[in-house]
Amino acid sequence: MAKRISLSRAARLVGVKRGTLQQQIRAGELKTFEGEIVLADLLHAYPDAQFEDSSMLERVEQIIEQATFINPEASARKPDNVALNSRVMSLSKDLSRQNRLVSRYQQFTRELDQQIEQLAGEPDALHRLQQWLRQAEAKISVDDDTIDQTFVSETFLRVMSAQATVIPSNHEFFVEGAESILEAGLRGGLALNYGCSNGNCGLCKLRVVSGDVRKIKHHDYSLTEAEKGLGYVLGCCNTALTDVVLEADEARGSSDIPQQNIPLRIKKIDHPDEDVMILTTRTPRTSRLRFLAGQRATLSIEHVGSSFYPIASCPCDDMNLQFHIAVDKEDPIACYLDESARSNEMLSLEGPSGSFVLNEDSPNPLVFIAQGIGFASIKGLIEHAMALDVAPQIYLFWIAGGDESHYLGNLCRAWNDALDNFEYLPLESCASNNPGDAIMERLGSDEPAGFDYYLCGDDVTRIGTQRFLESRGIPVNQLRYEPI
Ligand code: FES
Repeated sequence: MAKRISLSRAARLVGVKRGTLQQQIRAGELKTFEGEIVLADLLHAYPDAQFEDSSMLERVEQIIEQATFINPEASARKPDNVALNSRVMSLSKDLSRQNRLVSRYQQFTRELDQQIEQLAGEPDALHRLQQWLRQAEAKISVDDDTIDQTFVSETFLRVMSAQATVIPSNHEFFVEGAESILEAGLRGGLALNYGCSNGNCGLCKLRVVSGDVRKIKHHDYSLTEAEKGLGYVLGCCNTALTDVVLEADEARGSSDIPQQNIPLRIKKIDHPDEDVMILTTRTPRTSRLRFLAGQRATLSIEHVGSSFYPIASCPCDDMNLQFHIAVDKEDPIACYLDESARSNEMLSLEGPSGSFVLNEDSPNPLVFIAQGIGFASIKGLIEHAMALDVAPQIYLFWIAGGDESHYLGNLCRAWNDALDNFEYLPLESCASNNPGDAIMERLGSDEPAGFDYYLCGDDVTRIGTQRFLESRGIPVNQLRYEPI
């Protein structure tokens, strides 16, 4: 049977976004069978894919380092990363060669059977069969030129990372090295249920439906014998040894996220321009913030006051929380951070709240529109969309001017340069602030109705954007809006 692989693995193998493959499937350029792609079809669609490029090997080196960190004894005896890369690659080639050999022998057996049938009763049957066998034998051998590079690379990646599929959502992510299932799921942009991340609360409990996992951390939380019998494990204390299917709770919206009180330590405060501060904070390892990208939280400082800010980071990095804060004399927290705060000082966070979050189930390309410091919420959403790796294309229109600047324009340009599916379009603000013309100019002949729109800006920009959508016959509810 033709070898098939999951969409996520196929995307990794040929170095494109999962959303790009989905788009090709919808356009009929690639076929799927029960949600999987035939390797040969993938190779046909991507004949120039570089399967042994250095970026893959660099990534693998990182994974190996993570994987061996937890066992110092084994680490002392292990070969270095380059040697390990080479050996896994060599074994993958051997496996590919043997695989090809087996399929040729299967073919040979079928043809031999036909030959015997055809030659039965012929006077010189034995002689002719002998001649046929000599010719057939030459065709069976496998040399390095006929090794299937796709198979080699796929095997190589399979050794280095296990794929996890979550039911009922069918969300997928990769568990690399010795990271926990919970860490890997969060890194992959999933809103898995969890609390302490440390084996105490039991909130990350999930059921292993198929595949093998291994405990990597002691936990105080006790699973009952019945739960163990049903395959329940703690996601924060187990890693995946093989590809796994997991039954796990995921937040489907902001109402599934509980209110939390978290202490934060100030890591640093940057001033990208004179009107904006970027506050970077860190949560305790065992008390991280569970939130959805685009949500807000209240920050408080004892004897100073409280203010409500968007969280400008991705839940996939739940210990490092970023906030973009306007320098504002009326805001006690902003004044304190601007004038008095020092690194390592403590703040407290209460939240999260708000429903300006990604529609994770939509396969549509995404248009983000930020106005001024509205980029804070949009940044979190974009980073989350990148972690989920589902959107085939992401556009960012950032409107700024007057007192506002594109204060993280360098970051946006870096995304633009590094990611094939991301495009950054800075816009100067004007009285009407209608980004519609710029959107139409960029999307060109693409059908704007096929996009999901997210806007964080003032009311003038919202009205301008809504007018644009209405003029194109796009339902206004296709726009998710958050006021600055
Ligand atoms: S998150 Fe608390 S036990 Fe895993």
